Amino acid sequence: MTPPQADTDGVAVELRGITKRFPGTLANDSVDLTVRRGEIHALMGENGAGKSTLMSVLYGMERADAGSIRIDGREVSFASPSDAMAAGLGMVHQSFKLFDSLTVAENVVYAAEPRRFGLVDRAAARRRVRELAEEHGLAVDPDARVGELPVGLRQRVEILKLLHRGARTLILDEPTAVLTPAEADALFAVLKSLASQGRSVVLVTHKLREVLAGSDNVTVLRDGRVVARLVTAQTSAEEIAAAMTGRAVELDRIHAPGTPGDVVLDVSGLSTDAVHDVELAVRAGEIVGIAGVAGNGQSELVEALAGLRPVTAGRVSLKSQDITHASATERRAKGLAYVPEDRHAVGTAPAASVADNLAMGHHRTSLSSRGLLPPAAVRAHARRLVERFGIKASTPEVPASALSGGNLQKLLIGRELAHDAPLLLVEQPTRGVDIGAIQNIHDQLIAYRDAGHAVLLVSAELSEIRGLADRVLVMYEGRVTASYTKDEADERILGLAMAGAPAPVEAVD
Ligand SMILES: Nc1ncnc2c1ncn2[C@@H]1O[C@H](COP(=O)(O)OP(=O)(O)OP(=O)(O)O)[C@@H](O)[C@H]1O
Ligand SMILES: [Mg+2]
Repeated sequence: MTPPQADTDGVAVELRGITKRFPGTLANDSVDLTVRRGEIHALMGENGAGKSTLMSVLYGMERADAGSIRIDGREVSFASPSDAMAAGLGMVHQSFKLFDSLTVAENVVYAAEPRRFGLVDRAAARRRVRELAEEHGLAVDPDARVGELPVGLRQRVEILKLLHRGARTLILDEPTAVLTPAEADALFAVLKSLASQGRSVVLVTHKLREVLAGSDNVTVLRDGRVVARLVTAQTSAEEIAAAMTGRAVELDRIHAPGTPGDVVLDVSGLSTDAVHDVELAVRAGEIVGIAGVAGNGQSELVEALAGLRPVTAGRVSLKSQDITHASATERRAKGLAYVPEDRHAVGTAPAASVADNLAMGHHRTSLSSRGLLPPAAVRAHARRLVERFGIKASTPEVPASALSGGNLQKLLIGRELAHDAPLLLVEQPTRGVDIGAIQNIHDQLIAYRDAGHAVLLVSAELSEIRGLADRVLVMYEGRVTASYTKDEADERILGLAMAGAPAPVEAVD
């Protein structure tokens, strides 16, 4: 294990005057950031504030237009991430870069394998993983196939891989967005232990609770500039939120309950490969939330309802029409809108413009004229949605790939809500979205409900489910195992049901 190098003043990473310009956007404007050894440093800011760009510059993925980087007191210039790695940096990307078909040990040592007589020494690789895992409290079976591991363990493998290569500073960009609360707690325990050994962590996150509980210092960016440097122990959620947005933010707004009307979505005895015998109904003017630990069939259920996964038994009807075997396109035509969990692979076309992405699927709506989309209508539509959802893009003509993570999410939500479909299926609506935009998306979903639409909401955020849903169903091992009214669904009750032991509040309907 490489011990942290001794140098003058305990500074691990020092960015000075980093400026990065994209066409039409000043993403980083003379940013200074100091990360000390042994600290967990949170980097916060609204969607598009420049956090990922700054980390890409630090990690050698983007070249800054101006500014300097010092690592352990020495000035560096990285042409690629391998240069950054050689200097002791390691980055965990949000979409993991692991080989699913290889084992944990093979992934950890990949491209830095222990060798014996020129051959990869598998026994040594396994030993190394065990040692590292033990040293850092990152328990994971070296022989497990990565593709079969839950997401929290895959992230551990990523961290082990960086430690194997001697990383002394870890950069994590929204690491907990895809984790369950228990997995997130476990991650923070690991980060704290790494920091106590003198390593440093730069953490990009939108979750104030995590920052307050898990970081030492906070730097806040707004519009590419540093607007606040705060000591975590001396700040508050309100102060950070105000620094991010430049105004006071109302955290956790209370919404009035809906007034349910006729049944819009009716599901009976539905089964797929991963879902068993699901009964549920969603009425007009109602939000039904599905809570559950990730991987208990929620995504598969929504995919089956959207027409993207074969149904093996049961019946689905939309406004009394049988759509059990209808294609995804037919379902959309019959009045179903869908916000998928994966905004990159399924939800959007990265090379197409923001305007075209917003118009996607609107060939049969009021936007179109005889099945065609007139450019002027597409532009006007884009301008409306960019405004309504606060999508930050220099112009609607830039490709969707130029949007920051949270802004792409706003695009997807905006496009689907604009369909005004009687039924909206929405998964993880605020993943990666900043606190101000979360309030906006929540308000828009409530307004959508109050306009008489039916909403089926799947979210890993219990507070989101509890804040929005009029009824809460819990899924466990592919089944709906409990059903609660808004009032019954407190954290404890839901937590028990999500762990497979529902408390007897109300019989499953
Ligand atoms: N390749 C690119 N081309 C053009 N503009 C870009 C590119 N990458 C980022 N930008 C712009 O730079 C700004 C900063 O984006 P960045 O991804 O750093 O934001 P962020 O703070 O990470 O936001 P989020 O919280 O949404 O992830 C945004 O306005 C974004 O649209
Ligand atoms: Mg980002």
